[in-house]
Amino acid sequence: MSAIRKVHVKSYGCQMNVYDSRRMADTLAREGFVETERPDDADLIILNTCHIREKAAEKVYSELGRLRVLKQNAASDGRQLMIAVAGCVAQAEGEEIIRRAPAVNLVVGSQSYHRLPDLILRAAREPVVETEFPIEDKFDHLAEPTPAAIRARGVTAFVTVQEGCDKFCTFCVVPYTRGAEVSRPVTKVVDEVVRLAEAGVREVTLIGQNVNAYHGEGPGGRAWRLGDLLARVAEIPGIERLRYTTSHPRDVDASLIGAHRDIAALMPQLHLPVQSGSDRILAAMNRRHTAAEYLRVIDKLRAARPDMAFSSDFIVGFPGETEVDFRATLRIVSEVGYAAAFSFKYSPRPGTPAADRTDQIPEPDKVARLARLQELIEQHRRAFNAQCRGKILPVLFERPGRLPGQLVGRSPYLQPVQAMAPAALVGEVANVEITAVGSNSLFGSLEASHSVSDARLATQRA
Ligand code: 5AD
Ligand code: SF4
Repeated sequence: MSAIRKVHVKSYGCQMNVYDSRRMADTLAREGFVETERPDDADLIILNTCHIREKAAEKVYSELGRLRVLKQNAASDGRQLMIAVAGCVAQAEGEEIIRRAPAVNLVVGSQSYHRLPDLILRAAREPVVETEFPIEDKFDHLAEPTPAAIRARGVTAFVTVQEGCDKFCTFCVVPYTRGAEVSRPVTKVVDEVVRLAEAGVREVTLIGQNVNAYHGEGPGGRAWRLGDLLARVAEIPGIERLRYTTSHPRDVDASLIGAHRDIAALMPQLHLPVQSGSDRILAAMNRRHTAAEYLRVIDKLRAARPDMAFSSDFIVGFPGETEVDFRATLRIVSEVGYAAAFSFKYSPRPGTPAADRTDQIPEPDKVARLARLQELIEQHRRAFNAQCRGKILPVLFERPGRLPGQLVGRSPYLQPVQAMAPAALVGEVANVEITAVGSNSLFGSLEASHSVSDARLATQRA
């Protein structure tokens, strides 16, 4: 093995995995590992996996098939390639992974990433499986990114504030793969955001599987709600924009609604999954709210912040779903008028209650419903984008665009916006007049004045 060891981390699934992958890379950097984009160049490859649907989990095995060849090639060049599987498939399947894919050296569950340096040493000698939920807090032991690493990752960042889920929706593996709900203490979150802001981060997305169930210990010992935390993080110098994801409708409390009314840096955009528009299916999913209750939450948020843009996740073909149930889902899409949405065919997951039901929906029905739902979602997304034409939107520029002289950023509503702008505006919020709407991005031209306070005003007006 060469003196400088290289690690390649590949993330699947949600933003929490993206965040975890970075923290793993930071922790390994302390051990002398350098990150590489190229798997064929790496001494260590970590697949940070997702177990949410069967397709996501199976992807891992096809990737492992390819890596086996890479490992053989490396061995014939006299190099040793170590393969590690992390994340939710690791947590859920443990030893089974090594049984199915013997090229894997290490299986590490999502709560043990801080033990990676030690696990890698052990895995060099023999296969290692570590899927315990240790008592110590991994966040206390994972390395912080260096300012250079933060800068390389850009002006937006994720920060995990909450992990795990106690809701037990009947379709979902998350309570099993990520464990019980745990919130990080307020000071830990604040310290992390301060460091990010000092290194140039301007937008922070607080993440958690159930982020608005946040109940982290505040400085006075009392548990803070997410609304309190957002207010505190918004005060950190340099932080221009805040978002949070993913939320559960039942945990949208008065403090969160107040946050959307009062905190200028909190963007008027919210991913609030409803999964289905049918009360019967919502009950069978154990969502513990009705469609009407969900719509009331949406109304309250819109009353607090009239330009709120919503997105959602939907599952079609949940066991027992009838055409009437499915139409209720179509109805709620139109009632809310989502700016964007993700939709999935129900995928039975081992160990979850809905997987055992005998009234599974035939695949062709799922396929047909998904197509109908996606067509409607797309209509609403286009309508939402179209009404932005002619508006002035504050855009946080993130990086150069495809054309020379162009920058790409995001609107408050998370739409990508492309505009001709000087490179010095990366990391700045500037007002952009939207002149054209493409299939995925908005296009605009920079306003002459682009101070941040103007930008905030424009958010309020938009
Ligand atoms: N089948 C299909 N989709 C699922 N999701 C979660 N579990 C399943 C499943 N078993 C979807 C939900 C969730 C999103 C992250 O993935 O819509 O909000
Ligand atoms: Fe996938 Fe859920 Fe795990 Fe994220 S938490 S990686 S979405 S299974």
